[in-house]
Amino acid sequence: MTFARITGTGSYLPERVLSNADLEKMVDTSDEWITTRTGIRERRIAADGETTGDLAFQAATRALEAAGVKASELDAIVLGTTTPDLIFPSTACLLQARLGANGCMAFDVNAACCGFMYALGIADKFIRSGQTKKALVVGSETLSRMTDWTDRNTCVLFGDGAGAVVLEADNEPGVITTLLHADGSFKDMLYNPVGVSAGFKDDGRHGNTIMMEGNKVFRVAVRALERLVDETIAAAGMHEDEVDWLIPHQANLRIIEATAQRLHLPMERVVVTVDKHANTSSGSVPLALDAAVRSGRIKRGQNLLLEAFGGGFTWSSAMIRY
Ligand code: ACO
Repeated sequence: MTFARITGTGSYLPERVLSNADLEKMVDTSDEWITTRTGIRERRIAADGETTGDLAFQAATRALEAAGVKASELDAIVLGTTTPDLIFPSTACLLQARLGANGCMAFDVNAACCGFMYALGIADKFIRSGQTKKALVVGSETLSRMTDWTDRNTCVLFGDGAGAVVLEADNEPGVITTLLHADGSFKDMLYNPVGVSAGFKDDGRHGNTIMMEGNKVFRVAVRALERLVDETIAAAGMHEDEVDWLIPHQANLRIIEATAQRLHLPMERVVVTVDKHANTSSGSVPLALDAAVRSGRIKRGQNLLLEAFGGGFTWSSAMIRY
């Protein structure tokens, strides 16, 4: 049987740091409110002209280097984003050209904050089928470009960043299972009202920025993620004791703690970057994974449970033997 193994990880954060103290000068908020309600202390913001593709390129280059894989060896590039550089070509195609990986399949996946997890699930299936031997999976976002910086309900939550992994075919797992879910009936709780076909003119209420009913999203997210981790452990044929690390979507520390509690996992076994990165949507899980790999916390052979929840709603997970 063929499995997809992670052979390299990489990530990239823009240089500019925006702290809670900086936000106190922009909207009616406080460091105290932001840290207690979300766990966020600072976030990174892309420079003028710095795009999702630029962030993806840096993260991808680092992941390829870590894997010892040349871009020309890739069979697939799958990139999760809701903030593509252009409507088309896809950011994956722009990245492919820049990396010099011409010829392989390359496409974007839009699943909001689950973009990377969906991309991982898709790439895993291509590798399992035997069609793909080496895949680059990226999550990259510049959410700052669709954030209303006068809206305290949302602007304190988001940041920019990218993460990437190289997957290679192997006889040993690898990715044990991935689960991808969506329920579009929740659209009104979390969305951006503009688009190509709906028109770039906004609905007069929210501009072309993120609209979120945070408290309602919070409650649905906690419940969905609790069910999801149970479902993932069952699908992997494992017991919760066998999970070495939880690598969750980094939207809110309280959501992360609720999921860890469900798994009876101490917070020392949970990778938390939300304090430094805030919510980078598709960038969030691979950024956290790379931070934990590079710091030496995650070791080969350990079992990793990755999960995410986002607009759609979408929710998704992966059990991976690293
Ligand atoms: N500073 C100070 N006060 C604030 C701020 C702020 N930045 N933002 C909101 N408040 C106020 C509200 O106005 C409200 O005041 P009121 O009681 O006088 O009306 C009060 O704080 C409480 O607001 P709630 O929304 O109930 O606060 P809550 O504890 O739910 O925290 C938060 C809000 C952080 C948004 C939380 O609900 C959350 O994290 N939600 C989930 C986010 C998420 O996971 N999104 C999915 C992924 S995102 C994606 O897909 C793009």
